[in-house]
Amino acid sequence: MKIAVIGTGYVGLVSGVCFAELKHEVICVDKELSKISKLQDGEIPIYEPGLQELVLRNAAEGRLSFTSDLAAAVRQSELVILAVGTPSLPSGEANLAYIEQAAREVAQAMDGRKIIMTKSTVPVGTNHMLKQVIAELTDQPFDIVSVPEFLREGTAVKDTFNPDRIVIGSDDPAAVQAVIELHRQLTENIIVTDLRSAEMIKYASNAFLATKISFINEIANICEKVGADVSQVAAGIGYDHRIGHAFLRAGIGYGGSCFPKDTQALIQIAGNVDYEFKLLKSVVDVNHQQRFSMIHKLEEIFGDLKGLTVAIWGLAFKPNTDDVRDAPAIDIIRELVLRGAAVKACDPIAMDNFRKVMDSEAITWCEDGLEAACDADAICLLTEWQEYCRYQLKHLRRVMKHPVLIDGRNMYNQEQLQDSGFIYRSIGRPS
Ligand code: UGA
Repeated sequence: MKIAVIGTGYVGLVSGVCFAELKHEVICVDKELSKISKLQDGEIPIYEPGLQELVLRNAAEGRLSFTSDLAAAVRQSELVILAVGTPSLPSGEANLAYIEQAAREVAQAMDGRKIIMTKSTVPVGTNHMLKQVIAELTDQPFDIVSVPEFLREGTAVKDTFNPDRIVIGSDDPAAVQAVIELHRQLTENIIVTDLRSAEMIKYASNAFLATKISFINEIANICEKVGADVSQVAAGIGYDHRIGHAFLRAGIGYGGSCFPKDTQALIQIAGNVDYEFKLLKSVVDVNHQQRFSMIHKLEEIFGDLKGLTVAIWGLAFKPNTDDVRDAPAIDIIRELVLRGAAVKACDPIAMDNFRKVMDSEAITWCEDGLEAACDADAICLLTEWQEYCRYQLKHLRRVMKHPVLIDGRNMYNQEQLQDSGFIYRSIGRPS
């Protein structure tokens, strides 16, 4: 199939590249000229394992190209994928300006029948709205199909080739058939729905996963008070196949560009139809509070944080990404600085991005965990990068002012830490 992908963010770039790998002819479009010229040179604007090889190979074999000429890309394609961003407005609602604009430009460029497939996460009713916008601008026939994306950052390529399911929302049987064919080799789990249900499936999925995380974090907080161990509790409940093991890792809560944005958007979607989504509001609230458990644990040990030096291990919202959007590290470091602590921060790949969102004289940027730990009163581990488990604990203890490690991701084995003389605190496990 000939495919144009509008938007080379996470979703657009990864799906475009993966469709090229499946032997389709793909043109990726973006308004940002610098991004396009980098991509044309084989440079990837995001950190995503496995993506660069695929870009280079498919571009070299002539199935993948990059352009800023949307109209030309649309004219050459049978299928147009809309994958532009829908960031949060201050109200929490999704900003639909970019996707609406993209739909207008697609409509103006159309010179024959097109299938328009929306991959951006959009509020319920958006695809119907886009249908109207396009119909007002062109007489050409087209079908709108909503195919929400479920890939995770850091495992985006793997997820795209091995999806749990593909959801196809559409009112048009012929378009549905074409989109089924496009995905047939990826999975047997293809669910066909109406447009609104497909849109809702995306929000409901992310909201449910966020709920699991806040749930286990609250259980962790109770475990701390009653002397139970949340890791054992999560394992014990996860064996019930109705519950499952996934997304029951207690910690400092979720971040990233998806859960925070999509939970807020769903609260708004409900609010717009006079429904108060109380459960999800609590999920968001619990997630926000959970970040500050790091601060409370430091206070329990040191009392006042003024004058302390705290090493921060990990700035990305999760490992294997350089994404710091809504990362817990932002709130935690801000609070530490506010309370008069000095911060020594490190992250294997997200430091540059982090400095763009937060820089302060109170923060020293360090090469690695060991440098950050030197002369620190405490380490706060915020992102579970594997390399943070590779330090020799004896050596680590020697370079620190006080051997205190607060593990916000339950990465360390407690006994090992305590035996090595560290004052060790984690989330929801006895200290
Ligand atoms: C999430 C969803 O998992 C994807 O299915 C979805 O496509 C994507 O959002 C999106 O809407 O685009 P992502 O944000 O990349 O993917 O990352 P996740 O791996 O889901 O992790 C999200 C956050 O939850 C991270 O901060 C992670 O540390 C946290 N988390 C995850 C926990 O605290 N505990 C867990 O057990 C699992």
